[in-house]
Amino acid sequence: MNRSFLSVIAGGFGTDGSSTGSSEEETGEYREIKPEDVAEMLKGASSVVIAPGYGMAVAQAQYPVAEITSLLRKQGIDVRFGIHPVAGRLPGHMNVLLAEAKVPYDIVLEMDEINDDFADTDVVLVIGANDTVNPAASEDPTSPIAGMPVLEVWKARDVVVFKRSMNTGYAGVQNPLFFRENSSMCFGDAKATVEAILAALR
Ligand code: TAP
Repeated sequence: MNRSFLSVIAGGFGTDGSSTGSSEEETGEYREIKPEDVAEMLKGASSVVIAPGYGMAVAQAQYPVAEITSLLRKQGIDVRFGIHPVAGRLPGHMNVLLAEAKVPYDIVLEMDEINDDFADTDVVLVIGANDTVNPAASEDPTSPIAGMPVLEVWKARDVVVFKRSMNTGYAGVQNPLFFRENSSMCFGDAKATVEAILAALR
């Protein structure tokens, strides 16, 4: 485990009010998507991976996320979760929330178990995660989080990021994922947007 990873785990970033990335340092244009269009995208998918983070916990979105999971699986779509070791704010934070919402354990995978599968995944839903899915960690040696292992969600065919704004996450660094050609932003409180997708799927 390298120093960057430890620094981030230990809260070395984002705790002193300083920010190494900001909306002024954005890296291009981003695409917005509405929940109804996410529902259409999901209907056409064979494989879906959900990458949850701190925002899912804040929004309490795990319940509608579990419902969508169940609905899609009944339609024969492969749905799994990718859990980063420091997603959220406590060890095991995501696992506890997903277990509370009765997501089956066998589809909740650790980062190392799922990272090789993103290239074969149709749709990734990033629900309130930011630092843990930041490609700069593996691609930009000058990034403050360079070297931190991350969920390589950008390798999937399509990525939808659920958050309220273009704000940074805990580490305070901008995320180039948001500006990738295969990424779309679904803005709003994660519980409300996931519930809107659920309504469109029913
Ligand atoms: P973060 O990088 O903190 O990103 C969370 C994202 O959730 C933010 O970008 C935020 O964007 C969004 N969000 C917040 N409230 C939301 C809501 N109601 N609805 C929708 N989105 C919402 O999360 P992460 O990817 O889970 O990474 C965790 C970070 O915390 C890492 O940097 C990690 O090192 C650090 N940390 C972890 C731990 C442990 S043990 N897990 C302990 C201390 C620190 P908006 O504001 O735009 O909505």
